[in-house]
Amino acid sequence: MPGPKVPVESECPVNSYNEWDPLEEVIVGIVDGARFPPWHVEVGAPLSTEQRAVFRERAGQPFPAEEIAAARDELDQLVDILQGEGVTVRRPEPRDHGRTYGAPGWSSTGLYDAMPRDLLLVVGDDVIEAPMAWRSRHHAASAYRPLLKEYFRRGARWSSPPKPELSDELYVDGWVDQPEGEPFRSVITEFEPTFDAADFIRCGRDIFAQRSHVTNAIGIEWVRRHLGEAYQVHELELLDDHPMHIDASVMPLAPGKLLIHPDRVPEVPKIFKDWEVRVAPRPVIPDGHQLYMTSKWINMNVLMIDEHRMVVEAQDEPMRRFAESWGITAIPCPFRSFNSFGGSFHCATVDVRRRGGLCSYF
Ligand code: ARG
Repeated sequence: MPGPKVPVESECPVNSYNEWDPLEEVIVGIVDGARFPPWHVEVGAPLSTEQRAVFRERAGQPFPAEEIAAARDELDQLVDILQGEGVTVRRPEPRDHGRTYGAPGWSSTGLYDAMPRDLLLVVGDDVIEAPMAWRSRHHAASAYRPLLKEYFRRGARWSSPPKPELSDELYVDGWVDQPEGEPFRSVITEFEPTFDAADFIRCGRDIFAQRSHVTNAIGIEWVRRHLGEAYQVHELELLDDHPMHIDASVMPLAPGKLLIHPDRVPEVPKIFKDWEVRVAPRPVIPDGHQLYMTSKWINMNVLMIDEHRMVVEAQDEPMRRFAESWGITAIPCPFRSFNSFGGSFHCATVDVRRRGGLCSYF
C-alpha cells in the first residue's frame, strides 16, 4: 500500500512531487498567437496521417482566430474555477510566435504557449526546463522565464539540461512510420539529450517516463542522473503508435489510484501491484470535432486539485461518473475548444506548488 504521508510545509515557492497533493499554485497556459510551425519531419511524426496533412498545408500560418478565441475563453474559465478552489494561478504574457529564430543549419518560427506541462518538469523545489526536440519549441520556455526568475529569486532551484543543437543529426534521415503492428520507430536519434517534460509523470520518489518522438533514451538518462539517488526514474514501454507525452496514457490520480488508457498499457508495471488500476472511460468527443494534434484520449488528461477533486471536461459525462464512482469529486469545465490545440487540463497547466513532501507510494 502507498507509504505513510508526512505533510511538510514548504517555504519554497516551488514544491511539487506528485500529481495529486493539494494544489496551491499553478501556471495556466495561453493560446494567443498560436501558429502552425514550419513543416519539418519531427512535427509530423507524432501525428496521424490526417493531422500531418493539415500541418503540412498550414505550415507557418496562424491557427484560426475564432478557434483561438474559443479556447482562450475556456482557459479563462479554468482559471476562475481554480481560483475559486483556492489555487493561485499564474499566466505567461502573449508573444509573437511568427518571429524567426535559429541556430547554425536551421531556422524556425514558434508554435504556442498553451501547454506549460510540455515545457517545465517540476520535481520538488527544482524546475527543469525541457530540451525540446521540436525546432519550433526551442525557445518555448521563454514564455515562463519571468516566472522562473521570480521563483528562483524566492529560493527555488532552476535547471536546464545542455541546450540541444537540433541539427540534422538529431532527426532520422528519411524517417517513415513503422509498419502496422510494429513497435514505434522514433523520428529522433540519440545524438543529444532531448525530452518533453510531459513524457514524465511523478509519483514521489518514483517517476515514470516514456521514450517518444520527442524524448530519447539519453534524455531520460539526463533526468535520472540529474535527480540522483532520491528518485527512481522508470522507463515504461507503452503501446502508442505515435507517442508524444505520457499524460493521455497513464495518469496517477492519488496514492493507490492509477488511470490507464485501454490499449496503450500492455501490462501494468509490477510496481503498481498494490494500486487499484482502472481503465479510462471511452471519450465522447464527436468525430467531427477538430483535434489538430492529439487523439480523443485526451479525455483522461485530467488535473487533480487534490486527491479528492478532479477537473473534468464539462461535456464528458462518462468521465464525470467515473470520477464520482472512485470517490473523486468532478469539477466540470468546458474545454473542448482548447482540446483542439492538442491537450487538456493536465497539458494546459503545470503545478508549481502542492502542499506535501517527498514520499514513496510503492
Ligand atoms: N499524445 C497524446 C495522444 O494523442 C496526447 C498527449 C498530450 N499531452 C500534452 N502534455 N500535450 O493521445
